[in-house]
Amino acid sequence: MCGIVGYIGTKNCVPILLEGLKRLEYRGYDSAGIGIINSTECKVIKTKGKVSELEKLVNKENTVSSLGIGHTRWATHGEPSILNAHPHVNEDHTLFLIHNGIIENYASLKKGLQSQGYKFVSETDTEVLAHLIDRYLKLKNNLFQAVRYALNEVEGTYGIAVIYKNEPDKIIAAKKGSPLVIGVGKNENFIASDVNALIAHTSQVVYLEDGEIAEIFQDHFHAKTIADESIIKEIHEVDMSVDEITKGGYPHYMLKEIMEQSESLYNSMRGRLLLKEGISKLGGLQGYEDRIANSERIIISACGTSWHAGLVGEYMLEQYTGIPVEVEYASEFRYRHPVITPKDTVIFISQSGETADTLAAMKEAKKKGALCLGVCNVVGSSIARESQTGVYIHAGPEIGVASTKAFTSQLLVLALITLLIARRKNLNLPDGQEIIQELQTLTSKVETILKLNDVIEKIAGQYVNSKNFLYLGRGYNFPVALEGALKLKEISYIHAEGYPAAEMKHGPIALIDDNMPVVFIAMKDSVYEKVVSNIEEVKARKGRIIAIVNEDDNQIDKLVDHVIRIPKTIQMLQPILSVIPLQLLAYHIAVKKGLNVDQPRNLAKSVTVE
Ligand code: G6P
Repeated sequence: MCGIVGYIGTKNCVPILLEGLKRLEYRGYDSAGIGIINSTECKVIKTKGKVSELEKLVNKENTVSSLGIGHTRWATHGEPSILNAHPHVNEDHTLFLIHNGIIENYASLKKGLQSQGYKFVSETDTEVLAHLIDRYLKLKNNLFQAVRYALNEVEGTYGIAVIYKNEPDKIIAAKKGSPLVIGVGKNENFIASDVNALIAHTSQVVYLEDGEIAEIFQDHFHAKTIADESIIKEIHEVDMSVDEITKGGYPHYMLKEIMEQSESLYNSMRGRLLLKEGISKLGGLQGYEDRIANSERIIISACGTSWHAGLVGEYMLEQYTGIPVEVEYASEFRYRHPVITPKDTVIFISQSGETADTLAAMKEAKKKGALCLGVCNVVGSSIARESQTGVYIHAGPEIGVASTKAFTSQLLVLALITLLIARRKNLNLPDGQEIIQELQTLTSKVETILKLNDVIEKIAGQYVNSKNFLYLGRGYNFPVALEGALKLKEISYIHAEGYPAAEMKHGPIALIDDNMPVVFIAMKDSVYEKVVSNIEEVKARKGRIIAIVNEDDNQIDKLVDHVIRIPKTIQMLQPILSVIPLQLLAYHIAVKKGLNVDQPRNLAKSVTVE
């Protein structure tokens, strides 16, 4: 989604803005621009397409300034184009604005401004805000107040940064529903929608909250609410290095992140396993364990890959704790007037911690008195801050748009939550210890699977021209089938569907012929024999089968075209292992098709609009 970066200080901001925008590229975007103000000029440079294109344009101009803002736009109102790209400007080109989010009442605001003579050049909602601020500037003659007054008229969501020729010593930033952080440096300050854009310059950050507006100078800043009340903001130290957000020798972030999974899983469980007590230790849940264990119901709400993790979580929690669990798409949950009571615990899973629908669903559940538990990767993200209790997955920054290591760490953390609650319910010590012992063997099993990379790449080579794929699994591996299909469609643009294997008979079987690749996740578990029957059914119709099986399987290879053997673990943890070959399969097919796997078309890493 859109990205924001801004700088005020003593250095030339141009390379800082471009570098910041490059660090935000992973979020997904289709146009980019910067705006700078110095003592002689106010300049906006914009382009459709990539930041590298913007860089070429900027380099031609030899621009130098110590005040500037930059933006990557993911089109919502109006196609990707230079006119629609940000920054947007007022009519006399003295005020520049960048905006993430959506101004819902832009049409009525626009009408009002047009009746006062304002002319519009773009189709965006953002341009409305630029003119609205301009109108208040004429009345108030003060940028901070003009922005504040304008925002009081806005319905919708925003993260904005504004600079103005007549007040060139400041950036005004404000937030409602779209993330925004101030980076605090020495004699320089930054603004960004994501700490990744700042981390090369400072680890000191201030998170703006909804309804807050900040005036940022070179050497200090202050913040107020948009209702004009003063507030004191706390400075946080971010524990992240630049190395963590580079490719580290891999051709793509996605491959790096797949290959990192033994380490990321280790980090997710580090210090959290108490073998002697047969229980997990989750500091973030301290004090809430009984309330969760005594919940009448657990609801899990999330989007995309995180929703798939939630489905596995449902199987885990119901099997081990006996608490009924429901899994809901956050986008549906927030609008369907769900029945939620204070006896419910609602778990919100989000890698980014910024997904607009998940955040809104959380607010809805909170309003109704449920306990809100966040499972997030990004430390300090909105969902992490808004939830009453929670667990970080500690997978490290995930840059590839298609989520990989965050998914396996989400599953791991859900297993840890399950263990913690189950031990407070009926799970006995030896069974708790067995789960911990299995968790301790996971990282070496992941390494074994990652060594299959070449084998999987060869298999991928045979399916580059496929138009459709079916992914089938049962029990714990049904959500894995969904996730495998999602990975493939996200990055290879091949249509893929995941199904519970037995449901195949009720529809998808009609699609099977000798052109249809079918991926089976067929682990030696309680539903193994049933999955073998489903494989026979596909074989009988000449489907081409790729099967993910356990190492000791000697039954399935006679029936299928390709076998990928992976280590066995307990059923609850098996999805952590069985999804990895599917991530690699999707990756290699997309690379062989020559596609941009890290920034697939139309997708965004963090979906901060509805
Ligand atoms: C986007 C991303 C997906 C992600 C989903 C939910 O669609 O492209 O990879 O699963 O958002 O994101 P979250 O950050 O809430 O887990």
